[in-house]
Amino acid sequence: MIDIERHGDCAVLKFNRPDALNALNADGLSALEEALKELETSDARALILTGAGDRAYCAGADINELGPRTPGQVRAAARRGQAIGLQIENLPFPSIAVINGYALGGGLELSLACTFRLAARTAMMGFPEVKLGICTGWGGTQRLPRLIGPQDALDLLMSGRLIDGAEAENVGLVYSAFDGDPIEAGLTFAANFTANSLPAMRFVREAVLRASDLVLEEGFRTEADLSTLSYQLEDSAEGVAAFLEKREPAFKDR
Ligand code: COA
Repeated sequence: MIDIERHGDCAVLKFNRPDALNALNADGLSALEEALKELETSDARALILTGAGDRAYCAGADINELGPRTPGQVRAAARRGQAIGLQIENLPFPSIAVINGYALGGGLELSLACTFRLAARTAMMGFPEVKLGICTGWGGTQRLPRLIGPQDALDLLMSGRLIDGAEAENVGLVYSAFDGDPIEAGLTFAANFTANSLPAMRFVREAVLRASDLVLEEGFRTEADLSTLSYQLEDSAEGVAAFLEKREPAFKDR
């Protein structure tokens, strides 16, 4: 249900259950948790998440498993989906959701935890949970307004309408829309990052992610702390030396 491939420096994680538009059932969620745990300690320098087949990225939680449950079970399921989002967000390298076909509900929510999202121009994205009479619960209500602002977030979350890649790019839900092969689009985009120092990029990412939660002065202090930490890296000495010696840096990620 979850495949991992390697393409050079990049790991590619595929939601692979095409018969159900790659929807995530309990087994799929366990496989995803396991795959992300293994990726945490892999030597990959970027992760691309995409869907197997040409119809879907991931159509969300498996609706067959959303029947009668106790409030405690429902809450645990929401917390589990949120925790998987944090597994993705906290990976030591950039993650790029490459959305091909349907990305719905929980599938789209997990993409919000990625560092970047790209979408095929023909992709269809949205949060149809409200049409099932339920409230989005895998982090979407919190990450979406931080990403695109409350009005556009409320529009998508409360209408349940689907938007294509071009509209998703306009609203800022995805970084850019592409035509053509998803893996190629993902690998080309990932190449912007893979030669950089992973810890330096992690510090930047942490500062930016915290920016929307902190008042400005606290944000500045966080930035100063992370900047100070970055100067303790061997990579910072290497980066500066390489510039002065007019050569490419050879970062060691420490
Ligand atoms: N959970 C379980 N199965 C799903 C699914 C989901 N989230 N989304 C799609 N499927 C299954 C369908 O039941 C169907 O299975 P079947 O062939 O055994 O009947 C198969 O995937 C193909 O979907 P189908 O609905 O026939 O394709 P379509 O092109 O007519 O419609 C969608 C595509 C995406 C519009 C439609 O499948 C849909 O609305 N899915 C639900 C998405 C959703 O609400 N996700 C949020 C869950 S919280």
